[in-house]
Amino acid sequence: MAQRVINFNPGPSALPLSVLEQAKSEMLDFQGSGMSVLETSHRSKQFEAVLDSAIQRTRRLLGLDESYHVLFIQGGASMQFAMVPMNFANGRPVDYVDTGTWSTKAIKEARICGKETRVVASSEDAKFTYIPGKVPVNPDAAYLHITSNNTIRGTQWKSFPDAGDVPLVSDMSSDIFSRRFDPRPFGLIYAGAQKNAGPAGVTLVIIRDDMLKKASKELPTMLRYATYADNRSLYNTPPCFSIYLCELVLKWIEETIGGLDQMEQINEEKAALLYDYIDGQDFYRGTARPDSRSRMNITFLLPEADLEKDFIAGAAEAGLYGLKGHRSVGGLRASIYNATTLESVKALVDYMDRFAKR
Ligand SMILES: Cc1ncc(COP(=O)(O)O)c(C=O)c1O
Repeated sequence: MAQRVINFNPGPSALPLSVLEQAKSEMLDFQGSGMSVLETSHRSKQFEAVLDSAIQRTRRLLGLDESYHVLFIQGGASMQFAMVPMNFANGRPVDYVDTGTWSTKAIKEARICGKETRVVASSEDAKFTYIPGKVPVNPDAAYLHITSNNTIRGTQWKSFPDAGDVPLVSDMSSDIFSRRFDPRPFGLIYAGAQKNAGPAGVTLVIIRDDMLKKASKELPTMLRYATYADNRSLYNTPPCFSIYLCELVLKWIEETIGGLDQMEQINEEKAALLYDYIDGQDFYRGTARPDSRSRMNITFLLPEADLEKDFIAGAAEAGLYGLKGHRSVGGLRASIYNATTLESVKALVDYMDRFAKR
């Protein structure tokens, strides 16, 4: 078998080995069709079954009732930054919580769309190292937008703001399918697949029917959520291979891991191992405020930035990759999404300890 490294990349990121192996085994002959899924029509029976299964697995894992539509859209989470205000502002103000880079980008797009965009809470005063505790709710807002996990700053909402009748919209790109949550306050959830759900190239959008009904009809076809909902994400050619891989990842969560509760428990254990180690010594220092720490992206610093190069080179020698912090903030970051095993995190902690002692 090929030599595989321990991959802490922030996204695209590690995929479960069994998923990659299944994709490999089906690469030339997908389910007896004599073709790769890469070569199969998106309107074939085989592909439609894959798409249906990905939708049903999403529903079951997240506990979505019939009022939610599950859509697969291209353009990344970054296109959702624009599609959300385009579809829902409809002349009304829109509210955002700014918790760092990705929320800031979402806010920028809402402003480009020419709507009144209010930042109702922000953690910019402390370099986005925490999740704001109090979020004022304006009943006239078309929606309240949050970023459930902040991939770059290593912070994560532990519980979501109570927005009353205002629908919550969340970018869940870096923590969807990592934990259980109540979907009902959410009018819309979007997530680029390339961390917990599959490969790059497709964005999962979950939209409640009442939101869909409110969405603008004055937009180009491909920018309307209704286009995807009315055509089961098959209005045009979807990213078939990415959807196929998402289906395999969701199947792995359901059938190998045993569901979202089990997935959450494993994620809790992995994050606790790393944070407990960081808290129990004084060489490394975590950057996120403890009450706001992410279970997916663990950000930390060395006593001197000059040591980072050595740390990363030594890690690579030990087979540990993807530990450099985002170029905008520096430092180090271990992304420990669903596919990262407890053993991988143990190997990281062992390496960190060896490096600190040296
Ligand atoms: C939380 C979050 N939102 C949005 C994005 C942007 O996603 P995309 O590259 O799919 O546009 C990322 C990428 O890492 C992210 O982590």
